[in-house]
Amino acid sequence: MELTIDGRKVRAPEGEKILWAALDAGIEIPHLCAIREADRPWGGCRLCWVEVEGKGLVTACTEPVREGMVVRTDTEEVRRLQRRILGLILRDHPMECKTCPKRPTCELLKWMRFLKVKIPKDLRPFPREMTEPDESHPLFVFDPNKCILCGKCVWVCKEVEGVGAIDFAFRGYGMRVTTFLGKPIVQTPCTGCLRCVEVCPVGAFYLKEGVELERGKEEHLGERP
Ligand code: SF4
Ligand code: SF4
Ligand code: FES
Repeated sequence: MELTIDGRKVRAPEGEKILWAALDAGIEIPHLCAIREADRPWGGCRLCWVEVEGKGLVTACTEPVREGMVVRTDTEEVRRLQRRILGLILRDHPMECKTCPKRPTCELLKWMRFLKVKIPKDLRPFPREMTEPDESHPLFVFDPNKCILCGKCVWVCKEVEGVGAIDFAFRGYGMRVTTFLGKPIVQTPCTGCLRCVEVCPVGAFYLKEGVELERGKEEHLGERP
């Protein structure tokens, strides 16, 4: 079917979500939690707002394309909302970028640059209690303090690797990614496949020094190579 995104005619298969139709056409929409291969969108980060004519603001990773649909990705309202959401995510994030191993591929930094959002100085210092990073695994570290709850590690561990060593626990503001009973990750059925490190968009899962990913690069699910 054919739709219009930012004045451009774009073709996409029926049932496709606006986000993937736009990305395939080279139109950037900020997003942090979307997984193209997932059966159902998680819709957790709320960053991918776009405006649909006749419908208003929708999240692009959950809204399917329709014939003749008119989408705008960069209106003032869209950008205002995206900057606000990103600001809220940053409020809970320890900005230790200088020493963060994920800095070169960090998606938070990417969208901060894209949306021209600065570190919200007025919201610092970091308001949450810090948790000790889990360094029990010989290959990687899990630092829950940097987790933005995108859900990609949980999905890949359960749905791709069929392991389920990590999952979400608690609800609302207390929600976090953890192991069963909060055990050190090395005491879980984790196989050391490192898929969590590959998909994590920030520095919450990272390799220990001297360890390298086999494929040699981070994997951004569903995105163009
Ligand atoms: S995950 Fe990104 S934003 Fe967070 S400390 Fe690391 S480089 Fe900085
Ligand atoms: S650890 Fe990384 S991949 Fe997992 S939910 Fe947190 S930010 Fe997402
Ligand atoms: S990418 Fe759409 S809600 Fe996260």
